[in-house]
Formats: sequence, C-alpha cells, structure tokens
Amino acid sequence: MRIANEVIEEILARTDIEQLISGYVTLKRAGSNLQGLCPFHSERSPSFTVFTASRSFYCFGCGAGGDAISFVRRIENLEYPDAVEFLAKRAGVTVVQSDSYGTTPRFDRRRMLEMNREAAKFFHTALFAHTPGADAALAYLTEKRALDRATVSHFGLGYAPGGYDAPLTRHLLSLGYREDELIAAFLSGKSERNGALYDSFRNRVMFPIIDVSGNVVAFGGRVMDDSTPKYKNSSDTPVFKKSRNLFALNFAKNAASERLILCEGYMDVIALHAAGFPEAVATLGTAITADQARIMSRYTKRVVISYDMDEAGRRAADKATRLLEEVGIEVSMLTMRDAKDPDEYIRRFGRDAFARVLDGSQSKFQYHLSRIVAKYDIENPDDKLRALAELREIIAAVSSSVEREVYVGIAAKRFELSQKSLADDVEKSVRRRKREVSTKEHQSLRQSLTGYSDRVNPEYSRVPKIARLEETVLGLLLLDTRHRRGIFSDPPSLSESDFYTEFSRRVFLYVRDALSENESESSILNERFTPDEIGRITKMRLARMQLTENGDEVFRSALDALRSEVSAKRMAEEGNPLALLDGILKRKRNDT
Ligand code: GTP
Ligand code: MN
Repeated sequence: MRIANEVIEEILARTDIEQLISGYVTLKRAGSNLQGLCPFHSERSPSFTVFTASRSFYCFGCGAGGDAISFVRRIENLEYPDAVEFLAKRAGVTVVQSDSYGTTPRFDRRRMLEMNREAAKFFHTALFAHTPGADAALAYLTEKRALDRATVSHFGLGYAPGGYDAPLTRHLLSLGYREDELIAAFLSGKSERNGALYDSFRNRVMFPIIDVSGNVVAFGGRVMDDSTPKYKNSSDTPVFKKSRNLFALNFAKNAASERLILCEGYMDVIALHAAGFPEAVATLGTAITADQARIMSRYTKRVVISYDMDEAGRRAADKATRLLEEVGIEVSMLTMRDAKDPDEYIRRFGRDAFARVLDGSQSKFQYHLSRIVAKYDIENPDDKLRALAELREIIAAVSSSVEREVYVGIAAKRFELSQKSLADDVEKSVRRRKREVSTKEHQSLRQSLTGYSDRVNPEYSRVPKIARLEETVLGLLLLDTRHRRGIFSDPPSLSESDFYTEFSRRVFLYVRDALSENESESSILNERFTPDEIGRITKMRLARMQLTENGDEVFRSALDALRSEVSAKRMAEEGNPLALLDGILKRKRNDT
C-alpha cells in the first residue's frame, strides 16, 4: 500500500517532533537542541538528542536515529505504514492507502490483518458448532481447564476443526483472500505431494494473539490430549514477529502501572486474568528477547516473573531477569509450592492464595539467597565457600552501594560471618567487574570506530578506508543538496558506480531519489531502510554537520580520494587470479 506523498508531508509538517518525543522521554534544552535519556538503550547520562531544526533525533550511545516516523517505528514497535497511521491519527490527518507499497511486491498488511481477524472469528464460531470435535474442544476449555464462558470469549478462544478438507482455507478463499496470503500468514500450508492447500491448525484449541493496537496477528493452537507437539504457534509472518509481541499485552497494558506478571504459557496468563490479575503476559513459546524486555519497560517499572517451578523454568527466569534489569526494570521472582505453574496453582489453591504468594514474591536477592542456601550444604566448609563465592558475585553485580551493604548484612548473618570480611570480598569483586566493564566498553568503542563487526555495513571492516570516504561523501550529499547537482547533470558526474560497498550504494540511490517530485523523502527513507540503517544514515549527516568545512572543495577532494581508492581496489581485484577466474566464469555463464 502506498501512502500519498502530500499526506506524508502534511503529517510530518503537523508533527512537532519535540512534542512527540517528549511524550516518551524527558527532554532538557541543550543549546539549540534537546537532550534526554535514550529510550532505546539503558544509560545513565543523556546521549539521546533531538535536533529541532532538522526535525530529527540521534542517540550517540546506541546509534538510533531518524525522523519522526522512524522514531514511532522504533518506540511503538510498528511497521512503516502503521507508524504513518499512528502519526496521522495524532495529527488529525486522514490517510488513504492504495493497493501496493514499496518497491518490491509485499503483502498488504491491512488485508492480512483482516484475514487473521476472519480466521479468529471462524475458530471462535467453530467452538460452538456442536460437532463432536467442537464439543470436545469446548469441554476441554471449560471443564478440564476450568475456564468460564466469559473468559473464553474475552480471549476469543476457538477451535480449529480436524481433517484434511481445509475448512478454514476454503472459508478464507471464499472471502476473496489469495493462496499466497494464506500461506504467508501461516494459516495454510501447501502439500508437496499434490499442491493442495491444507489448514495449518487442525483439531486444536486456538489462542489468538493480539497486538497492542488490537489486531489479530497470529495464533497458538494446543492439542487436547497428550500428543505432540503440544502447541503449534504461527511462525513470523509479514504482520507478526514473535520476538516483539507478548501474549495478552493488549489487555495487560492498561493494568501495568504497578507491575506486570511474566509467565511462560498462554494458559497461565488466561488463568491469571480470569482470577483477577489482568497484568499477566507471556512470551510466545520462546525465551524472552531484549526487544520484549524493552517493550515491557514502556509500560511498567516492575515485573514479577512467574515461570514454571522446574529447572528449565529457573534457568529461563535467570535469563529474563538479566534482560529486564538491563532495561531498568525491578524484577522479583515468584515461587510456588505444590504446583508446577501459576495456572495449576490457582486451580488448586484459588486466587487468594496466589495473591498472597504474589505479595510475598521475593526480591531478587532473597530469591538467590534461598536458592543458594537450598543448593549447598552450608555445614560443609567446601560447600559453604562455594555458596559464598556465588553469593558474592550476585551482590557485587548490584550497582547501588547502599543496596550492597544491606545484602552483605543479611548474607553475613545467614552464613555467620563478620560483615567486614564479606564486605571486603564483595568490594574486591566490584572493582574487578569495573575493570572488566571498562575494557569491554573500550573494545566496543574501538569496534565502532574501526567498523569491526558492523551489522549495518558488513563490508566496512574489509575496506575501511573506502567505507570511511563513502560516509564522508554521503554525509555531505545528505547535508547539503547543492552537492547533489552532479547527479542530475548531463552526463552525470556522480553515480552509483562511484560507491563500492553495497550499503553505500543504497544510500546513494536514496540521496538521488530523495529530491524526486513524486515521492516524499521520508517515505523513501522509511520504506527502503531498517531502523538501524536509518540510524546510520542520520549519523553520516550529523558527523558532517558538526564540522565547519563542508563546502565544494571538501566535497570534491573527498570524492576524488574515494574514486582513486575504489579504482585501485577494483584494479587489484581484477589483477587477482581468482577474481579473474570469477570474471571469466561469469562471462561464460552469460554466454550460454
Ligand atoms: P499447558 O498448561 O500444558 O496447556 O501449557 P502451558 O500454557 O502451561 O505451557 P507450557 O509451560 O507447557 O509451555 C509454555 C509455552 O511454550 C506455551 O504456552 C507455548 O507457547 C510453548 N510451547 C509449549 N509446548 C510447545 C510445543 O510443543 N511446541 C511449540 N512450538 N511451543 C510450545
Ligand atoms: Mn500449564
């Protein structure tokens, strides 16, 4: 779907980027710009900057950057067209979309979402169809899992009929959806044997997955017996990324101010909501990701992890704790006795019992302390030392010295040690950790300077000199449109072939097309590049802006230097016997 350029321009004109970003970040004036703590990575001193004049933002810490649309894409976790719609709503502009968008054929997101909604309706209706399969599914949910009717409809639970006559597929085709859309949405598969379509979900109870805007984006389906696989979940589709969605966040976001409860399973979340804990969410059958942690941090400061009470659950909880703390969330851990997960706990002991466990959810330190005490026999001296070593590292990882002192006090008492000796040990670890961190920071700074392990431009490390010159030339082109004259002269004095790395060529093409009359610059940028790439492009421009010399002479000499480097490189490649061979082979292939 393409959005008319005048509309994009109008939306951007009506969007005050300063006001937009202030809704998420506390900004302070710094000269002609504004600064604040970056919402895209954890930091203590502000490196996130809003440039009012150029209506852009950039974080000098993590490299996030771009315009208002790029900001919304990142912060609201939206695809480009949805980010535009988000801003349009905010600005009071009506967006009319036509049928294709982007330069490559893609799926129409809106159609796909409508199709998913039809599928959810189909599954929900099928649950009440009074067929033997439907009756079994309804009994499974309301009897075996003890859900009431209100909960079943609140979550839009459903039933995917069994058999290979593909009832959902036939239904959606009859509504006018296409085969390729059905397959891309993970609703249908294609038989390798005879090319016929079949329903991806068969004879399962269905859990629709709904994003924070209320769109049905995916499904999970559970068998009703002990067969495997127990769950089948949609894989990523054009409208769904597992790693960036959380089950029931659409409900929980309104109840999240005090805390979120993070569970492992859909059934845990549903049982908790039904029992009066609408702040429960779950990941979608995978371990929690950094993106999910960051998304949660937009809604709350406190997360109670309520994972399964087995070894796998504990390990998963440790990983979740790390990721959540990295984004500044205060984490506590819920421990239950005589039940393997929250769903079972509530069914056995009721909601009040769960509320008590929740109130008693231990701070992370107390949780580790009791875990370590349970794991080791602390009457045994060797074990006691091991336990203390483990605990020392846990305390040393706490950044506040006041907090460390409190924990040292508790631990010393528990292990019958003097507070002083434990405190000395802990501080030694703290100093060691600081050294390690600063080495790491140093390394990553060097990496970012040398472009080593560069995800945005993977060719950087192979040809650093060329890539640097390309960034200079592109930065100047981005900064001052007068430098672009050569692109449009006849014959052009500057073209795609002047650039060597693939990323730089793409940026060049963007620069070339940005001035075209029938496409808005912002839509070209946001349609062609990922948020990380947009960050880099913003940085190229900024790097030049901070310098005083950006005139014709600087531009010409950078371009000359780039050209001579690139032609030397290409010559070397051609002189290289392997490259030569490559060329011969390529020509041969073209001949046949
Ligand atoms: P039940 O109570 O047995 O219905 O499941 P649960 O909701 O407690 O889930 P469980 O703790 O067993 O698993 C947690 C999550 O992992 C589930 O909600 C699913 O998303 C996912 N999961 C579990 N089993 C499978 C499986 O066999 N395949 C896939 N792809 N995902 C699974
Ligand atoms: Mn369970």
